[in-house]
This record gives sequence, structure tokens and C-alpha cells, in this order.
Amino acid sequence: MKEGAPLERVDGVHVRRNGRLWLDFGGCDYFRLAHAPALRRALIRWVRTQGWNVAASRLTTGNHPLYAQVERKLARFFGAEAALLMPTGYSAPLAVAQALAGRFTLALIDQEAHVCLHDAAMFLGCPVRTFPHRDVSAVARQVRRAGPGARVILLTDGLFGWNGAVAPLAEYRRVLPPNAWMLVDDAHAVGLLGRRGRGSVEAAGLSRGHLIQTVTFSKALGLYGGAVLCARQVRQWLVARSGCFGGGTPMPPPWAAAVETALAELRRRLPQRDRALRAAAQLRQDLRRAGWEVLDTPAPIVALFPASRLEAARLRRALLAEGIDPPWTEYPGRAAGYFRFMLAPSHTADHLERLRRALMSVRRD
Ligand SMILES: Cc1ncc(COP(=O)(O)O)c(C=O)c1O
Repeated sequence: MKEGAPLERVDGVHVRRNGRLWLDFGGCDYFRLAHAPALRRALIRWVRTQGWNVAASRLTTGNHPLYAQVERKLARFFGAEAALLMPTGYSAPLAVAQALAGRFTLALIDQEAHVCLHDAAMFLGCPVRTFPHRDVSAVARQVRRAGPGARVILLTDGLFGWNGAVAPLAEYRRVLPPNAWMLVDDAHAVGLLGRRGRGSVEAAGLSRGHLIQTVTFSKALGLYGGAVLCARQVRQWLVARSGCFGGGTPMPPPWAAAVETALAELRRRLPQRDRALRAAAQLRQDLRRAGWEVLDTPAPIVALFPASRLEAARLRRALLAEGIDPPWTEYPGRAAGYFRFMLAPSHTADHLERLRRALMSVRRD
């Protein structure tokens, strides 16, 4: 792995790289909230009137009353009993695993799960087995093999951000023992899935018993930080047992103060999802006609895997010729690089046509 080249996001659709503006189809700012004036105002309002750091753990003197207020709003938005803010989305599953350590005899994890879930699994203190990507029968087999006394937890992304695939949560629930838990990293699903944008748990129509959802504010919500949505009892365990929660400084207050505005903005922009989804469906159709294999997903994400380095280089040149920053992605845990296009509601017909033209002009291997 290596660092990406430096790049500056300029507005909802452009980036500046090497001193030049390029059309942008990268990243996970799904509703382009990271530049929304309402969020900027909320942050500035807080910084003007209050401090920007509590400079202590929430177990000591860092428990600003704002945090509990925001957690109540989050719990209401997601339809969960309780919420706990975390400094990042990455640390949220780690904290959950620390809180639940010792409760399970087997952890099952999707082989394509985000690296933070693989890290989290190490805290559970039980054997960890991977299962093939979204393979419900493989989960059922592992459960049968574990026997009737097994205490199982399943870890998966709700929506896999690298290609837009959705985890079959309801099917997992059907083959898991009734006492099994699920830890769902919904970093990408918030805003994209579910009628109210609550993510994969809402989309799958699952009840929240024995289910913990972790989210990030750094993608569809345009902010920074993370949260755990869970039962009240689990929240208590998190506070009491998680070093990731108690051993560090919480999310800076200005960011926490802007969460409510971000949720309101997301709600307002949810109807715009359809536009991006229609554009993604059209692009997939065109790509298939040109011989590409592309996954159908309910997310505005189109992942293209070039067959060779030469093909990747041709795609790159074609994108640059249309003034598009090539969204080449190399991600922890993935062997090969690929192009990941994210279509946002703010992309105009002209932007989409430039992308289509670039991709269609490439000779396939
Ligand atoms: C699936 C998934 N989980 C967790 C994270 C980490 O979230 P954060 O950036 O808020 O730490 C990411 C990426 O950023 C992600 O893609």
C-alpha cells in the first residue's frame, strides 16, 4: 500500500490535483455534504462560542453535556435504544469487540469485511473464522459445525463500500442460532440504504435484538467521527470496558454539535438518491454493452476491474482526456487496484456524459 497523491476537494464535483481542476467521481461524500454551508455554519457557530476540545476522556472530565444530547438524537434517527459517539468510525467496532470480549465461542467474519472489523475480531477473545463473501450457506455450515452450545457473533459490512454490494443480513439471521449476535459496520450504508437512510438494518427490516450497528459521520454525513447504535445494556458495557472509548479523547465538540444539522441535511437530500441511482444504472448498462462485468447494487457505486495494467493505463488516459480525475483505488485487504466511481446527485448530465464517453472510448483487452 502507498499513500494516494495529494488532492484537494474544491466543491461538490471538482478536485484540485497538481494545480489543476478535475471532475471528481471519487470518495464517499455521497450527498456532497462535506461542503454544505449548513454544516460549515454549525461548526463555526460552536467554535465561536465554545472550545473545540474537551482535553480529557469521557470517563474523567471530558464528558461534555453535548455528547448525551447528540447521542439521544442519533438513537432516535436510527431507531436504536442507545448510541455512543466514538472518535472515528474505525474505532467503533473495536470498542464493541472490547465491550463484548469473552461472550462468544466463535466469530464469523466475511472475508471482504472492512479492515476495522478484522482488527475488531481480534479483541473478541475467541476463534475467528472467515467465510466467503456474502455466502449464507457457508455461514450455515460453520454454525452447524460449531454445534448447539456455540455462542456466535457474525461481523460484516452492511454495504461493502469498495463495490456497493449489500450483505444478506436477513438471510444470516435465519441461519444463525437465536442467541447469535451480529456486528454490522454500516459506514457506507447510512444515507444510501433504507427508506429513511438508516442503513442496511433498516433496508433488511431487521429487529435490533442482538444486533449492533456502527456508523461513521465521515461519509454520507459529511463530517467526521463515528458512533455505535445498540441496546442500553451494550452502551453500558462499552463505557465500562472499552479502552478505545474510555482511554482517549472523544470526538471534538464542534463536530458532535454539527451531527444534528448533518442528519437534517441528509433527510432533506434523501430524495436526491434516485437521481444518482438512475445515473449509476444507466452507466452499468452502457458498460455491460461494452463488455465490462459490473455488479448491480442499490448504491451509486460502479467498480471497474481492468483486465491488465495496459487496460488500466488506457482507462486512465481516457479519463484524463475528459478532464476527469481517475478514481484509482488500492485499499487495505484488496490484492488488485481498480477504478471506483461514485455518482453523486450533484453530477450534471454533462459530467455523466463525459464519464460515459471516456469509459466507452477504451479498447478492451
Ligand atoms: C466500511 C468502513 N468502516 C469503517 C471505516 C472507517 O471510518 P472512519 O473514516 O470514520 O474512521 C471506513 C472508511 O473510512 C469504511 O469504509
